[in-house]
Amino acid sequence: MTNPGVELQELIAAMEQRRTRVEQGGGPERLKKQRDGGKLTARERIDVLLDPGSFLEMGTFVEHRGGRLMQGVDAPGEGVVTGRGTIQGRQVFVFSQDFTVLGGSLGKMNAAKVTKIMDMAARTGCPVIGLNDSAGARIQEGVDSLSGYGEIFYRNAVYSGTVPQISAILGPCAGGAVYSPALTDFILMSGGSSYMFITGPEVIKSVTREDVTFDSLGGADVHTRKSGVAHLEYDGDEAVLAGVRDLLGYLPQNAREKAPSQPTSDPADRTNEKLLDIVVPDQRKPYAMHAVIHELVDDGTFLEIQPNWAKNIVVGFARLNGESVGIVANNPRVMAGTLNIDASDKAARFIRTCDCYNIPILTLVDVTGFLPGVAQEHAGIIRHGAKMLYAYAEATVPKVTLITRKSYGGAYLAMNSRDMGADVVYAWPTAAVAVMGAEGAANIVYRREIAGSDNPDATRAQKIAEYKDAFDNPYVAASKGYIDDVIPMEDTRRVLIQTFAMLRDKEEARPYKKHGNIPL
Ligand code: HXC
Repeated sequence: MTNPGVELQELIAAMEQRRTRVEQGGGPERLKKQRDGGKLTARERIDVLLDPGSFLEMGTFVEHRGGRLMQGVDAPGEGVVTGRGTIQGRQVFVFSQDFTVLGGSLGKMNAAKVTKIMDMAARTGCPVIGLNDSAGARIQEGVDSLSGYGEIFYRNAVYSGTVPQISAILGPCAGGAVYSPALTDFILMSGGSSYMFITGPEVIKSVTREDVTFDSLGGADVHTRKSGVAHLEYDGDEAVLAGVRDLLGYLPQNAREKAPSQPTSDPADRTNEKLLDIVVPDQRKPYAMHAVIHELVDDGTFLEIQPNWAKNIVVGFARLNGESVGIVANNPRVMAGTLNIDASDKAARFIRTCDCYNIPILTLVDVTGFLPGVAQEHAGIIRHGAKMLYAYAEATVPKVTLITRKSYGGAYLAMNSRDMGADVVYAWPTAAVAVMGAEGAANIVYRREIAGSDNPDATRAQKIAEYKDAFDNPYVAASKGYIDDVIPMEDTRRVLIQTFAMLRDKEEARPYKKHGNIPL
């Protein structure tokens, strides 16, 4: 102790040395392999995701717990980087799995780092972002690693609906590394470099003898087009991380708050003459529902969620006069906008996500009904369609419905009619509300008359015309109060903005329950 200054320098140097060792993850070779694969490293991802200089790391020096098979195994940082930072000035918690350290596999202490920041996020009311690049449970740690996943899944579920949880999938994620994301609100994947599967190609080959590549088993294309597991696909890590930032802008910090307003120069009273060219009155002619949405919302900006899966329904976020809104819309261009199993699942999930996070819902209706067919019935369209009915009825956020054209039968109810809890229902003059289309209705109701007539075709045409006159318009429903107003199309943006402003402080109490029992 003759020269205390030197000792302090040594302590500092030792700390720096340890820190550098942790920051180097699995070492230069594995880091190079990671980069050669077109991926960023765990730390680079955090830098790209967060506002510059905002990251505060936690658990830097955590080490694995040992155990027989972990003797002598070096796992810098325990294979995951954790901490807090900000995105557009708002605090978020983040964990970034480091594939260069034992494949980003999850052991007990790796899980402890993750659950620590999940707990802090829940206590402080901030989103959790997981940057996933992990081979799943760490094989060497056995039941301890399973326990680690259990602790994470438990929190994913308990904090669901409390704070937004967003998962970016940025590498080959297997086993537990996919079930945790599946319990979160959104999954974003990078095309070509990320995969999600419960069991990989080798196991599949040995069990079912199926030959399959990583990509065709669980690539971004599969999960954003076929399985519906993931919500958004991007090209590369940077784009995924930019997507996370964008998505968060539509969400509040937690379930007690509203999403942040975003000032816009797009006038609240901008008229929508363009709609007159987009929507044709002929009920059989499809039109671009996306174009309708772009015309109505601020600056034409729409973040579509699951754009390539169940395309017969369109869901996503936009803003009206700066306020975040969730949009659910039929897509007349795909399967005539009918509702099937996947569309029902997609819409129900999105409605519940909006409701969790106090995001008002705008529903745009142009639907003939649920998709008929043996396959749909046998696969449980009743059970799945019921999710939509349930989700709309359950949601207490402001709900505004606009019937753009046809709204028939059960789908009229499933698309948030007045009776299902819509606060306000509007229709355009092009709208038609009925139990079914005029052709089908005339054939059923006037079957005998048509069959017994001298000229069945003429009688059928006459009955169809009579039925259309009586029901294929919005005025019967409006006369009974099911529609609050039939509005000029070009006035729609102003009307919607004023209506959501009116409903902004809406509160709706529900009877006591532990939780509802949505059909799954
Ligand atoms: C520990 C692992 C590991 C694991 C890989 N590694 N998987 N270490 N536990 N689960 C190590 C490798 O030994 C290697 O170490 C490094 O990570 C990179 O792995 P590679 O195989 O070289 O990489 P790659 O060819 O890119 O293949 C990636 C992979 C493959 C597809 C993820 O590694 C793989 O299939 N791993 C096993 C996946 C799995 O079955 N996980 C358990 C799931 S069960 P070195 O030292 O060479 O760099 C589960 C339980 C929870 O998660 C379930 C809850 C429901």
